[in-house]
Amino acid sequence: MTALPADVPEEMLLGQYIPLHYHFNMLRDESRMQPFREAIALTVPPDGKVLELGGGTGVLSWFAAQNAQQVWCVERNPALVRAARSFLSKNTNGDRVTVVQADAMTYLPPEPVDVVICEMLHVGMIREKQLEILASFQERYRRAFGPRLPKFIPDTSLLAIQPLEQDFCFSGYKAAVPMFEPAGPHMADRVLGDPHVYSTIEYGTALPLELEVDAELTMLRGGQLTAISFLTNNFLAFVLSEQRAVQWMMNQLILPLPEPLEVAAGDRVSIQCAYRAGCSLEALQESLTVTRCSHTIPLRSAEPQRRVA
Ligand SMILES: C[S@@+](CC[C@H](N)C(=O)[O-])C[C@H]1O[C@@H](n2cnc3c(N)ncnc32)[C@H](O)[C@@H]1O
Repeated sequence: MTALPADVPEEMLLGQYIPLHYHFNMLRDESRMQPFREAIALTVPPDGKVLELGGGTGVLSWFAAQNAQQVWCVERNPALVRAARSFLSKNTNGDRVTVVQADAMTYLPPEPVDVVICEMLHVGMIREKQLEILASFQERYRRAFGPRLPKFIPDTSLLAIQPLEQDFCFSGYKAAVPMFEPAGPHMADRVLGDPHVYSTIEYGTALPLELEVDAELTMLRGGQLTAISFLTNNFLAFVLSEQRAVQWMMNQLILPLPEPLEVAAGDRVSIQCAYRAGCSLEALQESLTVTRCSHTIPLRSAEPQRRVA
């Protein structure tokens, strides 16, 4: 698989453009919807003002409208703008949401807001422009309304990697392809080492646009190191009074190595990559390098995939 053709317009790239049926699936994803609903209910003050960047079907703006007096829901895709307006007109308090067809890279609300919601999230902060858009928003908002920023949902995102033994075997067919899969205890027999956090992104502070993994991990058990998993946990809100956070752990991205690396417990493995937030999955894969001792495996997506043991 190679990089995308250079002449594809930016807004048509996967991640920038999300087909409508995918939005409808996102509405059905309870692991995403419930934490957003809770975080928004906890964070939006009664009669507050809210801005949502990348509103899609309008559902998160509608959650906000249950507390807020006014919500500006900014969406670039005209088909979604139409869908959001139609859905909101049929839901209680939907009239508190103004759907604005605009580019979130340049849009500012007409007045200061209490809360900004932005769910242009993708695992590892690839594909979607969450960081670029919020970095630009921070700068433009401060220039327009002064130094105090609104609260952000999510509040913080944690990015981590983890070494895995993944067989990439599908009904007996071996194919070393990137996979998206829920993270959790069911992974225990595939995990070769602890996760390593490589970036903590706090949305109310200066945002990194370049992300880097530079880690040396100890293998906790032996096996075939065949993949690196990218994990993203979003802390949507902190409930300090209850000493807990409302979290949305996204599906992990399991990236195959071109060749397995046999490791023993105690071995040290160096994992490195550097990428720009919002880049393609292929760019992330190309930048990833896994090394043990003097043995280096550069991961080039353009290379033919080799069989994984
Ligand atoms: C992951 S979806 C989330 C949609 C919705 N917030 C939800 O939670 O269901 C991200 C949305 O951001 C929109 N988007 C992406 N880039 C944008 C931009 N520059 N300006 C406005 N909307 C944008 C996409 O069209 C898409 O609807």
